[in-house]
Amino acid sequence: MKKKLALLAMAAVLGLSVTACGSDDAKDDSADKGAADSGDAAGDSASGEVANKDKPLVWFNRQPSNSTTGELDMTALNFNENTYYVGFDATQGGDAQGEMVKDYIEANIDKIDRNGDGVIGYVLAIGDIGHNDSIARTRGVRNALGTAVEKDGKTNSDPIGTNTDGSASAVQDATLEIGGKTYTIRELASQEMKNSAGATWDAATAGNAIGTWASSFGDQIDVVVSNNDGMGMSMFNAWSKDNEVPTFGYDANSDAVAAIAEGYGGTISQHADVQAYLTLRILRNALDGVDINTGISTADEAGNVLSEDVYTYNEEQRSYYAMNVPVTAENYESFMDSTEIYADVANQLDESTSPSKKVWLDIYNAADNFLSSTYQPLLQKYDDLLNLEVEYIGGDGQTESNITNRLGNPGQYDAFAINMVKTDNAASYTSLLSQ
Ligand code: BGC
Repeated sequence: MKKKLALLAMAAVLGLSVTACGSDDAKDDSADKGAADSGDAAGDSASGEVANKDKPLVWFNRQPSNSTTGELDMTALNFNENTYYVGFDATQGGDAQGEMVKDYIEANIDKIDRNGDGVIGYVLAIGDIGHNDSIARTRGVRNALGTAVEKDGKTNSDPIGTNTDGSASAVQDATLEIGGKTYTIRELASQEMKNSAGATWDAATAGNAIGTWASSFGDQIDVVVSNNDGMGMSMFNAWSKDNEVPTFGYDANSDAVAAIAEGYGGTISQHADVQAYLTLRILRNALDGVDINTGISTADEAGNVLSEDVYTYNEEQRSYYAMNVPVTAENYESFMDSTEIYADVANQLDESTSPSKKVWLDIYNAADNFLSSTYQPLLQKYDDLLNLEVEYIGGDGQTESNITNRLGNPGQYDAFAINMVKTDNAASYTSLLSQ
């Protein structure tokens, strides 16, 4: 039910015809790969026979990449034959978020310009200026609204500080014609929401920022946009709910979806239910020595399989990407529980063919709303179904060593799932596995 609605929403809102370009390619990655041999270790402890450097490894949520240029870190993505990234299609998602905001403005033009000055002003909360997902969302919003300017051949995603007079150089004023009237669209302010200790995507910082912005130019703010729901909800609760200013986020966390009934403008589901499954399923398959796409593009014995329209696999990038779905007043009721597992992959694996294995998995920031309230609860449901004993490590969101220090004995584990603090830092993990 949920899936059908999601697909309808995706097709309708985005006009997309998604062909999972990679899943066929992915079938080529077959059982003859490395960690196949680790599958015969019985019981629930690491076999000790497989070198740490050959154990399955999944990067998730933060793709190994250069945080300045966005270039993928292919060394990390090819660490061994059973290394992959699991995330979502950041560009498609960023575009969907931008379109969602634009559609809302167009549909509500008669009431959106709160001070009637003909300028639709929005403020933007940026998560992490060095994170591909965050950059894609900033770009998607600016592209859709027409406020984007180019920098080095790409949409500039830099924060602008404040821009109440429209003079900022990283964005431009746009015009939008609706019902014979021309409106200006202006990015009034944007800021990376990083706290003083260095944690990014920081919800509390966003809550403070909206207070500061509102007290100096509050009546000019007609729309609030955020790179994620954690920050979006913080701004909504601090200011926009009371002032009836539509606020848009990303992630479809349960609290944000529920808030749509109270005026939250909308959010995007990055299909965390599919991503969490892929994160653990790839490890499972590698440990069992079966085709890496078992239970993904082809059904496993328990009947688990993903349809091609909810993810793509990019072989060159060694990356699985879930697709995004807009969640708005129109369809939010079917997204109320963000921790509900994906119905098509909800079947328990047989312990005789998929015996218990130990996985080390970290969440870079235990306080991150999306990862703690949506992603980890999903992982915890799937780990049971997949017979994986997962040790969850929670980081502080700012210190990589706080996490790597807890990977002191990789020999105790059969496989690893890593969520980095900084996307440049893959080597600080792989070096521990190579020793
Ligand atoms: C999510 C954010 C989250 C970030 C953490 C993004 O994909 O949308 O909510 O803070 O990942 O890396």
